[in-house]
Amino acid sequence: MVLGILGSGSGSNMQAILDAIDAGTLDARIALVLSDNPDAFILERARQRGIETGVIDCGGFKTKFPEQAQAATAARLKAAGVELVCLAGFLRLVKCPLLDAFPRRIINIHPALLPAFPGLEAWTQALAAGVAETGCTVHFVDEGMDTGPIIVQEAVPVLADDTPATLHARIQVLEHRLYPEAIARVNAEMLKTETLK
Ligand code: GRF
Repeated sequence: MVLGILGSGSGSNMQAILDAIDAGTLDARIALVLSDNPDAFILERARQRGIETGVIDCGGFKTKFPEQAQAATAARLKAAGVELVCLAGFLRLVKCPLLDAFPRRIINIHPALLPAFPGLEAWTQALAAGVAETGCTVHFVDEGMDTGPIIVQEAVPVLADDTPATLHARIQVLEHRLYPEAIARVNAEMLKTETLK
């Protein structure tokens, strides 16, 4: 399966996907990594692996993902032959026309047990709410913020002495196992659908 990755930050989840591919537990290839942040470390990680990278030009908007930029992103992903788009720490809301270009073919990883704590810094939200456990969720992307159908989710305990940093670190260990597993599951579903056609 040919993957395209969109990320805005460090890219540790993309690294976990690459590690699973290297280990032979995920039958996939990352064809293209795009970021809205030209300085994001995810781009550096991809370049070091010889993966094609690109910067999404959002026209100076801080959080908006303008329609034109979404169309350009879709075109670039299509040109690279991408079959499944994985959001990995991508901080802008994906909408049409990008959603339309990849129906049920865009997935996201979120650091909470959705539908609890959508949006930014979900681990800080969980700490503030005083919950006993939080976790991480991989889901299909729809028009909403972290609202699409859930593929897989798993819990981690919140400890009495947790800080936002320690809780996020514990969630990330889980993310790095769960995201490649979820991609493999989506891949298997896609292959089944193809076979049935
Ligand atoms: C992860 O915690 C992910 O759940 C969230 O953003 C973070 C990205 O981390 N959506 P990284 O860039 O993969 O290290």
